[in-house]
Amino acid sequence: MGNTRGVSGAIHCPVMVDEVMELLDVKRDGVYVDGTLGMGGHAEVLLKRLGADGRVIGVDKDEEALMFAAQRLQDCRVSFVRDDFSRVGDIVKDCGYDTGVDGILLDLGMSMCQVKDMARGFSFNSDYRLDMRMDNRAPLTAWEVVNRYKMEKIEEILKEYGEETRGAKIARAIVAQRKRRSIDTCRELASLVEDVYGGRGRTHPATQTFQALRIYVNGELAALKGALEGSGAVLRAGGRLCVISYHSLEDRLVKNFFRQEKANGHFRVLTVKPITPSAAESGERNPAARSAKLRGGQKL
Ligand SMILES: C[S@@+](CC[C@H](N)C(=O)[O-])C[C@H]1O[C@@H](n2cnc3c(N)ncnc32)[C@H](O)[C@@H]1O
Repeated sequence: MGNTRGVSGAIHCPVMVDEVMELLDVKRDGVYVDGTLGMGGHAEVLLKRLGADGRVIGVDKDEEALMFAAQRLQDCRVSFVRDDFSRVGDIVKDCGYDTGVDGILLDLGMSMCQVKDMARGFSFNSDYRLDMRMDNRAPLTAWEVVNRYKMEKIEEILKEYGEETRGAKIARAIVAQRKRRSIDTCRELASLVEDVYGGRGRTHPATQTFQALRIYVNGELAALKGALEGSGAVLRAGGRLCVISYHSLEDRLVKNFFRQEKANGHFRVLTVKPITPSAAESGERNPAARSAKLRGGQKL
């Protein structure tokens, strides 16, 4: 399995690869959607398990990620699609698989290459403009939200998508600061939040603020809901849906989706409890995997 270095030189190490492949129960001639192709880490392993007739539809809305994965994989069994995974149903049809697919993988959130590329404006230490878009064609950036939105709306975003208990205080501080001058860079916002907290703890105090803005700017929860529903419609009977989430808001959506689809008789739940990375994986090998939770279901 290969690690990959993106534009920033960062490495993205795919999470729980063996567990994902087992849960997908890969068939050699199957058709699989990797809805979050990223740097192609999971897709690379999936391709090794597929035979000549197997196919992968690799989706990402990030142009850089897609180009990187295409260059890395260079495999005619892969269709590379720049799109939002919430459109999985249409994507599968557009690729010509009218009879559905055997498996779908969603490895949510961002790749390390996105986080570490300072110009993308995701990182606390970035002196670039607050951006946080995964898809650079999208009109809304984090700068717009921080500098143009009403205080009440900023507070709501911080509470809803960051579960930030100091959302009101942070929103007030943002509005007070921008009356003096705009908050342009990630570092400026991170240090403003740090001031509200009065210092740093074990994790950076701006973690929840940044998470909230990223989720809002990229419409992440709505996209996930769309992808879960779309997946249910496009999986063949016996096909499998596997989702790796990295925070409780995502995991709750996935858990509730499987619970409801089980009650409706549409899915069998394959993970009563989420699968988490081994100590070896989330320790030194890949600390970014720490919060990962893998859930899977089988279409009936
Ligand atoms: C954690 S990374 C995936 C890493 C990948 N599994 C690998 O092994 O390299 C998540 C990827 O999903 C993409 N992504 C996030 N939300 C998306 C969406 N709604 N539609 C399409 N791609 C999305 C991001 O741009 C990012 O490249």
